[in-house]
Amino acid sequence: MITSMAPTRAPLPRFPHDFLWGVSTSAHQIEGAAGERGPSVWDAFSAVPGQVKDGSTATVACDHFHRYREDVALLADLGVGAYRFSVSWPRVHPHGDDRVSAEGLGFYDRLVDELCAAGIRPLPTLFHWDTPLAVEERGGWLNRDTAARFAEYAAVVADRIGDRVERWITLNEPAEHTLLGYAIGEHAPGKELLFDALPVAHHQLLAHGLAVQALRAAGARSIGVANSHGPTWAASDAPEDTAAADFYDVLLNRLFSDPLLLGRYPDPIGELMPSPSLDADLKTISEPLDWYGVNYYQPTKVGAPGLEPTDFNGVTIPPQMPFAPRDIEGYPVTDFGWPVVPEALTELLLAFRDRYGDRLPPIMITENGCSYEGLDDQDRIAYLDSHLRALHRAMAAGVDVRGYFVWSLLDNFEWAEGYSQRFGLVHVDYETLERTPKASYAWLRDALRGQRG
Ligand code: FCB
Repeated sequence: MITSMAPTRAPLPRFPHDFLWGVSTSAHQIEGAAGERGPSVWDAFSAVPGQVKDGSTATVACDHFHRYREDVALLADLGVGAYRFSVSWPRVHPHGDDRVSAEGLGFYDRLVDELCAAGIRPLPTLFHWDTPLAVEERGGWLNRDTAARFAEYAAVVADRIGDRVERWITLNEPAEHTLLGYAIGEHAPGKELLFDALPVAHHQLLAHGLAVQALRAAGARSIGVANSHGPTWAASDAPEDTAAADFYDVLLNRLFSDPLLLGRYPDPIGELMPSPSLDADLKTISEPLDWYGVNYYQPTKVGAPGLEPTDFNGVTIPPQMPFAPRDIEGYPVTDFGWPVVPEALTELLLAFRDRYGDRLPPIMITENGCSYEGLDDQDRIAYLDSHLRALHRAMAAGVDVRGYFVWSLLDNFEWAEGYSQRFGLVHVDYETLERTPKASYAWLRDALRGQRG
């Protein structure tokens, strides 16, 4: 364990005694054992040279599939009450149809047992971007039928582990999957459809609603979603910049929260959605949720587009998009270049409460974290400390938040960045797969003890 001359910090403010503390991971990013499941869109995408920055794949990743017992022991020592992981759809349905892999499903059964034995509540996410390749070959999320296939898969998983799972998450960040995967092609499946990617958003939301119904039919009592949100700041008061920022806010935030919480699309999205049965779909999409998961990383400053593409944290936004992200100055940045702005978390939560009022169920922060190198990761400690204080301020102002999950337990395969960004509380040596808790792990363990004590 690391020892360092860490700065002395005031103890965190007290969170409610039943507040749910956890950490998050996702299947494709940590499991490895790619040969023991069906292929996913990410396997195909990573195999194309140039798509993943360091040329890596998630074939082995952290080998969590074989080392889950060691990882659950790390969770137990950390003292978290819950663990958010994702179920790999291609591990359960390797062929993307209704043939179930007993080995694949059996893995989640064992993982859930191991968690329960350690007194840790399992919080599975059913979709964290790893669509079975066979489903993609039939049109993927551009195909409305994928929503129905997803609900069938949700029912299969619920049938197997639902007796021990109290809380479920349907989708992770459909906004990023739509934008990065289908609109600008930075993520799998690598499509560059720009606004023709909008059906992908609708079909994921429909899949969410159908999965909520399937989970409830299987006896699930507590269902949420994990949507990424962040305040959008206009680059200036000029009308073209505020209009660009409003539009970005609609596309990245409200397109995914309004239909779930209000049962309608924000203007002008409704008219653009090519659905044969929009009203009925929106009724399904807005099935009441038991809680609402927010993944928060950073605010975004947005201005009107220029004639050239904009480079934003290594993501290229083409000039055809009606907005251009700009650098946020005056804040420290993580190794990924993301600005560290804890007060934007308070701003976001207050704005959510004001926008959705009674329609907003209790919130859980389902992801929050940062990328820094090194075992003595004082910057990560400062990040988590400041964001927890910002969260507490929102709660003190009346926002009903029930839990907080750090992204991530382990360093892992960070999508198009490969292994170059380290988000873990625990360091992973990708040669030996050895796990080494970082200073932030010790800090969080002590902070959780302080909350209990
Ligand atoms: C989120 C993703 C998660 C991870 C973090 C850093 O957008 O949900 O898988 O990549 O960012």
